[in-house]
Amino acid sequence: MSGDTDLDRQPSASDDLVSRSVPVIDLDDNAAVKQIAAACREWGFFQVVNHGVDTDLIDEVWRATRAFFALPVNEKELILRTRENPWGYYNNELTKNQRDKKEVFDYTTDGVDPVYHAENRWPGFDARFRTVMEAYGDACTGLSLRLLQAMCSGLGLTPDYLDRLFDPAHTGFIRLNFYPVQDPLAGREDVECLGVADFGVHHHTDAGALTVLLQDDVSGLQVFNQGFWHDVPPVEGAFVINTGDMMQVWSNDYYQAAIHRVLAMEDVDRYSIPFFYNPGADAAISPLPSVVSGERPVRYRPIAWADFRSRRTDGDYADYGTEVQIAQFWIND
Ligand code: OGA
Ligand code: NI
Repeated sequence: MSGDTDLDRQPSASDDLVSRSVPVIDLDDNAAVKQIAAACREWGFFQVVNHGVDTDLIDEVWRATRAFFALPVNEKELILRTRENPWGYYNNELTKNQRDKKEVFDYTTDGVDPVYHAENRWPGFDARFRTVMEAYGDACTGLSLRLLQAMCSGLGLTPDYLDRLFDPAHTGFIRLNFYPVQDPLAGREDVECLGVADFGVHHHTDAGALTVLLQDDVSGLQVFNQGFWHDVPPVEGAFVINTGDMMQVWSNDYYQAAIHRVLAMEDVDRYSIPFFYNPGADAAISPLPSVVSGERPVRYRPIAWADFRSRRTDGDYADYGTEVQIAQFWIND
């Protein structure tokens, strides 16, 4: 654990010290594909504007998200997630066995999902909630496929090289995040909660291919890069994009799955909405041919996605031991 704690003590990049920052990329720009590839190599993080996702839909998603978290806690806990079925509401999440100061609602594509064999739990307060969230999931899927194609191009592959692993049968999901100033478990004696929630989300990498994140206008998201924690400031109308563990493996470490975290809110509540774009349940992940050579042999053993994903989720839910990480698949030579 000591390595982890050290990471959180690293300095923040203040403007006078470090002028680099996470790039903002215009998807209508002819150079966007090149810029995405560079951002994936240097940061594993970037923001996109002119992404084509309907702003009215985004406004509706924000309204529905705020309305959901404003419900009384007993109503939210009617759709509490369980170890067997991770879909629904949760306020006791762990990242690497440390409790996060947040509430979440997770949902995936309609029907029985192929990793957990479970179905979404929807709140009953407003029938429109589900309709809006499903439409938003579709919009994120379209944008994510475009980004995936840019990332493949950046590795010297045809843009559609990975399409068949995602389209149509991806295992992506959406998380509504609420980071309240008030610890959601403060004063609760009926639930077992582990430790103090001293971050909104403790530092981590996302497990899948890439993440498309909507954040509100409250700062708090930070990415670790070259020894410093950098703020990822809210940019009006932008999505924050980051690469995940599977993209790092496919790219044989050319693209980094960046470590990031969210500070605990002290003054004002924050909301964010990540879409985690993940391959199909039976995908086996290995470095792709264009990034393997004599000088740069394969660095990872194949990873069975569904197994990796479900073992990571177990770590979110309770202290079931060490969370699975891609380092466990390193080939040491
Ligand atoms: C996450 C995450 C960032 C944010 O949920 O994995 O990193 O800004 N969220 O909420
Ligand atoms: Ni994350």
